[in-house]
Amino acid sequence: MKGIKDITPDEMPGWNIAERTAHALAHAFGFREIRIPIFEKTDLYLRTLGHATDLVEKEMYTFPDRDGTSLTLRPEGTAGVARACIDQRLVPHPASRKLYYLGPMFRHERPQAGRHRQFHQFGVESIGSADPHADIEVIALLWTYLTALRLPGLALEINSLGHPPDRRNYTAALVSFLNGKEAHLCGNCRRRMEINPLRILDCKVPQCRDAMQDAPSLPNFLSPSSRQHFDRVQHGLRILDIPYTLNPRLVRGLDYYVQTTFEVSCSALGAQNAIGAGGRYDGLFQKLGGPAAPGVGFAIGLERVLLALPGDALPPPAPWVFIASFGDKGKAAGLSLLYALRAQHIKADTDHQASTLKTLLRAAHRLGAPFVAIIGDDEVADDRMILRDMTTKEQEIHPLGTATSAIISRLR
Ligand code: HAM
Repeated sequence: MKGIKDITPDEMPGWNIAERTAHALAHAFGFREIRIPIFEKTDLYLRTLGHATDLVEKEMYTFPDRDGTSLTLRPEGTAGVARACIDQRLVPHPASRKLYYLGPMFRHERPQAGRHRQFHQFGVESIGSADPHADIEVIALLWTYLTALRLPGLALEINSLGHPPDRRNYTAALVSFLNGKEAHLCGNCRRRMEINPLRILDCKVPQCRDAMQDAPSLPNFLSPSSRQHFDRVQHGLRILDIPYTLNPRLVRGLDYYVQTTFEVSCSALGAQNAIGAGGRYDGLFQKLGGPAAPGVGFAIGLERVLLALPGDALPPPAPWVFIASFGDKGKAAGLSLLYALRAQHIKADTDHQASTLKTLLRAAHRLGAPFVAIIGDDEVADDRMILRDMTTKEQEIHPLGTATSAIISRLR
């Protein structure tokens, strides 16, 4: 299907690294995992993401439930996490404030490299603190994650949209600046003038960029408290040596953002070079009828992480053993050894169809087994197992009774 792809076993080592690093670093930063449903009532997204956003207008997978209730496959995770926190009364309990999630999201976008209709995000939400340190913490986690995976050419851009009144003042100034310039804007932006003028700021169409050249600058409209918040965020990033540039046009595509917004791009990606992004969303919980809990978070697109992951980021495959057992007694001893190793979480496999040493070794070779344990009837009679290193061709002999522990220590 267009924009929906399988992840094959060959691709899994990269995914495992990306996901394992996400779990490890999220935990190191004090975030706890949450799993939210894949679909929600459509109303959740209409109330949080904004009616006039591309996401809501064009990209949601929406369908009626059997009773007619409108449902939507989750296009992002923040709204669902906020809903879950309210339903489960997780806020304002302090231990529940820092949450993370991994999983698929769904957007009906035009597929291209790095843009899919089903894609995966690693996201975090820090809920309950309006302090700039919460912003610094999530940006630091985003940056630490991407740099831990050694993704090349990362660039962090940040901006502040201010409090809602700052934003309203700015929007009014922007609309009056654009009055009379409608003819210079693309069709999309002419429509945005009516419904969501801020989005004109990050339109990539050259004619819109030209028209916006002398547009009023958003930072000039920040209230003293918004400015102070943003200054403190930047101060923290400098202390942590996280390089960033200011982009006063970074408004982001979702309506819930206020104050800090940020985005990281990666030079290894093509046109879709935003690898992770986020911002603050104070006010979102109230929109959903919850407590006045401020929040800040990010989400990273894992398909894009995988595209940018350097080849040497993958660890070498873990060593494992192929059990080459033959003859009635040999097969029985081999079977016991096979399952004893597996019970110890040691990868062990065999080919139950092959019945001679020659065919067994051929199967081991085909599977790329680094070690082979050889047990025939003769070995059982002599109480021994031969362990062959397939790379060096060296062989060791061990008593059958200690075969499991001998293999485990050899593999380690
Ligand atoms: P977003 O910018 O819409 O933010 O998505 C975050 C990341 O998801 C993007 O930077 C990109 O890497 C990836 N992504 C988005 N759409 C696609 C797609 N069609 N195919 C592949 N990857 C994609 C959010 O989703 C917010 N919920 C982030 C957030 C969390 N803000 C606060 N908390």
